[in-house]
Amino acid sequence: MQFNFKNPTQIIFGAGMLAQLGEVAGRYGKHALVVTGGGSVKRNGTFDRAIESLKAAGVSVTECSGVEPNPRLSTVVRGAQIAKDENCDVVIAIGGGSTMDAAKAMAAMVYYEDEPWNMFFSSEGTFVPPTRALPVITVPTLAATGSEMNSGAVITNEETKEKSFVNVPILFPKAAIVDPELTVTVPADQTAYGVCDLITHVTEGYFNGVDGTPLQDRWAEGVIQTAMEWGPKAVADGNDLEARTQVQWASVAALNGWVQIGTKAGYPVHMIEHTLSAHHDVAHAAGLAVVNPSWMRFAAKQRPERFAQFAERVFGVQRNGGGAEEAAREGIDRFEEFLRSIGCPTHLSELGIGEELIERYADDTLRIINDGNGNLPGRPTMTKDDIVNVLRAAL
Ligand code: NZQ
Ligand code: ZN
Repeated sequence: MQFNFKNPTQIIFGAGMLAQLGEVAGRYGKHALVVTGGGSVKRNGTFDRAIESLKAAGVSVTECSGVEPNPRLSTVVRGAQIAKDENCDVVIAIGGGSTMDAAKAMAAMVYYEDEPWNMFFSSEGTFVPPTRALPVITVPTLAATGSEMNSGAVITNEETKEKSFVNVPILFPKAAIVDPELTVTVPADQTAYGVCDLITHVTEGYFNGVDGTPLQDRWAEGVIQTAMEWGPKAVADGNDLEARTQVQWASVAALNGWVQIGTKAGYPVHMIEHTLSAHHDVAHAAGLAVVNPSWMRFAAKQRPERFAQFAERVFGVQRNGGGAEEAAREGIDRFEEFLRSIGCPTHLSELGIGEELIERYADDTLRIINDGNGNLPGRPTMTKDDIVNVLRAAL
């Protein structure tokens, strides 16, 4: 186990913390580009409260609204142009992962001189990482992606129907104001998808990482169990602030890097899902709920002991004389049942996706990222046929 870890994002956590936005943002700039999504923050009053706090701290505001779910490259370019035209010196994202990702990419696009799509990873050698960005403050309104406290952004090229990512240290937000009160208006389906997303961030590291990371294993299991305990409560009653609080903390912890330290894991389930949402504009974690159990059944054949450990520790599955394969299968079945119980889809048909483009999804996934031998990084690595088979099994 070897690692070199730094997460510089300040996190200010708790109900009511939105009131600190102005004071925090004022440390980084005097004229903010405030980035929002399709309008939820205006309808529920979050936007007005944020602006009030900024004005009180002497921070003036230019708005960039209308970031769509699965945010598009053209939106990033539009926002960066506004920031340049208006001389903004700090970017504030108020919204879900899509809004935060778009805001982070805008902050870097302001200085980017290459073709905009080259800012995002590709195995074809076109990737030119950004080297400078305006300071970013995140105010998540949906517990899911962990984007508020990590250095990643996932963007869709709507012309080529590709979805890719950039993950570089300059994109770490300066501060994340994580106020669970802002999430009480998230509808039940998006709440459930958020729970699935955060759990999947953790399972990617848990199942694809190197051997010999016992502490990371326990952290991962703790995040999953916390999400499974409090997630259903947040889905059942959106106003349950305690449940919203625990779920949101779990979502931050799931992808701020801590759980994955030293695991050197790939993200095969995410990479496959990104291709689905690029083509069909489905909610990211609705796609994950379909792909992850199917991928687990594929990967468990190579590593049954690992999946048996997951079954035993997370679901209390007893071996009772059966082998690791049997325990592994039961753990995956129970995981899938959990996803269904909170309202997630587990078949492609539920997303309106058939088999017509199944080979294309595999090709696109491998074009965004492969290990140099044409396979998808993960444990095990996946050939094109493996990806097709995992998707076919999820039809
Ligand atoms: O657009 P608005 O009107 O704000 O509505 C949104 C949107 O319709 C709504 N919503 C958000 N907060 C709300 C709310 N509705 C009511 N009350 C609130 N408080 O929820 C809908 C979904 O929002 P979105 O931001 O798209 O969801 P999510 O947070 O799940 O983000 C998904 C995006 O993040 C990427 C995904 O690929 C996808 O594009 N990811 C980013 C990651 C990262 N940066 O680390 C990692 C993830 O694995 C993921 O890939
Ligand atoms: Zn995710």
